[in-house]
This record gives sequence, structure tokens and C-alpha cells, in this order.
Amino acid sequence: MLKGKHIILGITGGIAAYKSVTLLRLLVKAGAEVQVVITPSGKEFITPVTLSALSGKPVVSEFFTANTGQWNSHVDLGLWADAMVIAPATASTIGKMANGIADNMLVTTYLSAKAPVFIAPAMDLDMMAHPSTVTNIERLRSYGNHIIEPASGELASHLVGKGRMEEPEKIVEILDRFFDSQGKLNGKNVLITAGPTYEKIDPVRFIGNYSSGKMGYALAEEAALQGANVTLISGPVSLKAVHPAIKVIKVESAREMCDACVSEFPTSDIAIMCAAVADYAPETVHDRKIKREHDDTPVIRLIKNPDIAATLGKMKQEGQYLVGFALETDSELKNATEKLQRKNLDMIVLNSLKDKGAGFGTDTNKVTLITADGNQQKSDLLPKRQIAELIIDSLSNL
Ligand code: PMT
Repeated sequence: MLKGKHIILGITGGIAAYKSVTLLRLLVKAGAEVQVVITPSGKEFITPVTLSALSGKPVVSEFFTANTGQWNSHVDLGLWADAMVIAPATASTIGKMANGIADNMLVTTYLSAKAPVFIAPAMDLDMMAHPSTVTNIERLRSYGNHIIEPASGELASHLVGKGRMEEPEKIVEILDRFFDSQGKLNGKNVLITAGPTYEKIDPVRFIGNYSSGKMGYALAEEAALQGANVTLISGPVSLKAVHPAIKVIKVESAREMCDACVSEFPTSDIAIMCAAVADYAPETVHDRKIKREHDDTPVIRLIKNPDIAATLGKMKQEGQYLVGFALETDSELKNATEKLQRKNLDMIVLNSLKDKGAGFGTDTNKVTLITADGNQQKSDLLPKRQIAELIIDSLSNL
């Protein structure tokens, strides 16, 4: 899939820069045209001569070529690329990219790039675990960049932990898979629900749940990346959708979410119900704050909310595909299969709160995809963005 693709290989100043040489060789061998952009400190670790010999192109590092005064246009480079890969990406470059500090050719090229960007961090385990690095990586992820997670193992410092740049062979495989799957949902209308619902008790209180929206927003970004027009119906969360092909409809209660879904579903090819919808709402919403000074302890009577997934299951027409989630704490497979059948779903994504790192609020999840014909596919514990890839991949295969 890499044949003829234009790849910018960004190299920064870390020990793992030696692996970039192999990465460059593998990319060229796979038929890609590679332009190396290296930071000034990257050149302390690996010479431009080696890189230009292997890529067959002069290496770009400065805004001007010193002896000719030729201007190296980061804008042109950004437009030329089909993908940009930064490997290794140091904590410093990650910080600059996350915060728009455009003081070198690599970061300006990154900021100008229209193509998908893949970032392979490499650093010592403590730097990797520092809240500053973690926040910057999360920010880059939220911009729609692909993070190639570093592996765990022995590091240059001889300490053992997470921070080793992913192996060049694996990075090439990730790029290859990306180009292979790109556009699998081209032109499809995809409806996704995300986040919690809030059910009002009075003007200051509500019944809610711990959903952060991370799983649903990751699905929306991935579907948009695969060429879909995405309508994201979102409960109250602090996340922002980044991709321009995502239209966000903000709702608060299960009823509002249901109304929005019912109105959007007829024009959708695929609907993915990832929201954690409250099953019950208070029967009465007080128009004033319930006061503590009341003599009696207040009793809040609950009524059933509509089951949105089941409502869409009844509306579903030939050719429409409906996916639900199941968040379970026990008898997981049995409960998920029962929901799949009762709500007339084509696939259900089971996640269990028994699995550490899965479910609400986490950046990771562990799922089992169960299709209506009984097929099951289990995942490892992976970042939610990778889980989203898995789900979208299995949908596009179907
Ligand atoms: O948002 P995050 O913090 O990233 O967490 C992700 C998640 C845990 C919320 C997500 O992975 C998940 O499991 N979402 C579904 C949670 C849930 O409500 O599960 P459920 O088993 O109660 O519901 C089954 C299905 O019916 C779900 O698709 C749900 O959206 C849907 N449903 C439920 C109740 C209701 N009244 N209407 C519905 O449509």
C-alpha cells in the first residue's frame, strides 16, 4: 500500500534516531517517496549524509539552505505529503507540537501538514510517565494524530519500562494498514452517540453516570478518518470533536438524545450507540432547588426512559446497520447477547467493569465484538482509539 506514497519522516534528537535509518530503508523498499525532515538536535544523533543517501533526497533541517539561500517551504512539504511520521518523537518535540511552538522546520511542517500524522514517542520511562508528556500526547491525540505507543523494555538508560520507540517493521506495518483501510467508510453516514445523559432532579441536581465520552469520540474520529460523514450525538462531556467531517449535536437528557437519534437515523447507514444512557429519570423535575430544611427526607420517584437502541432497532430498514454497546459487571456474554437480540442489533461491543482499565473514564478499553450471527472477536486492553479502529474495521469488513 505504500508504493508511490509521499511520506515525510520527521527525526528528532533521541537515541532511538538510529532506528529511523532502518525505518527509512523499509519505507523506500516498500516503494514510498520519503522526505526526511530532521531537527537540529536530531543531527547530533544521525547524519544527514546517511539519510539523504538512503532517501535519494536532500535532508531538510533549516528554513533556508545556508549556501544557496534557498527557502525550504514547510507549507509545500505539508501539502506534498500523504502521511507524516515522526519517529522518534522526543518529549521536547511532542511538547512543541502540542502547543504550536514552531521554532524549527519539523514543527512548522507538522503544523502545515494536511495529511495524517503518526507520532512514535521514544524517551526514558520517567519522562514518558511525567504528567506534562502524558497531557501533551493526549492533546496530540485529540488533534486527530495517531500515536504509535512506545513499547516496554530496556531503555538507553538501562532502566526498564515504557519508552522504547516501536520497531521500524511495526511502524511500516501500521502505515501500510492505514493506507489499506483508508476510506473504507467513504460517503457513509454514521450516527454515533457518546457520553452520559443527565436527568434533572431540580435546577442544581441531576442523575448521571461516569461516562467521559472518550470511547464515543474516538469512534467518531476514526469513522471520519475512514471517510464517513459523522453525526455525533453527545451527552455533556468536556471533549471536542476535531475532524471537520463530524457534526456534533449536544443533548443533555435521554429523551433529548432519543429525539435526536430518531430524527437522524433514517438517513444513517450505520448507527453506533456508545452513550451510557440513564435508564430512569425523575418523574417530577422541581423548578426550584429542593431545600435541606424540609421536614421529610425527599423521595424521588423514577420513571423509565426510552430505550434508544431498541427504538432504532424497530425503525431499522434493510441495509442499515445498528451497533450497541454493553457495559456489564457480571454474566457478561449472556447479558450482552440478550441485549443484542432484544434491541435488534447487528453487533454489540461488550466491555466489562471487571477488566481493569476498561469501561468508564479510562483511556483504554478491552472489548468483545459479538455479531448477530454469533461471531466473537476479543481485543486486548488497548487505547480507546485502537479499540475504535478495531470496531470500524470490523464494520467496514461487513
Ligand atoms: O465514555 P467513556 O468514559 O469512554 O466510557 C465508555 C463506555 C463505558 C460508556 C462505553 O464503552 C459503553 O459501554 N457504553 C454503553 C454503556 C451502557 O449504557 O451500556 P448498557 O449495557 O446499559 O446499554 C446497552 C446499549 O443500549 C448501549 O448501546 C446503550 O447506548 C443503549 N441504551 C441503554 C439504555 C437506554 N435507555 N437507551 C439505550 O439506547
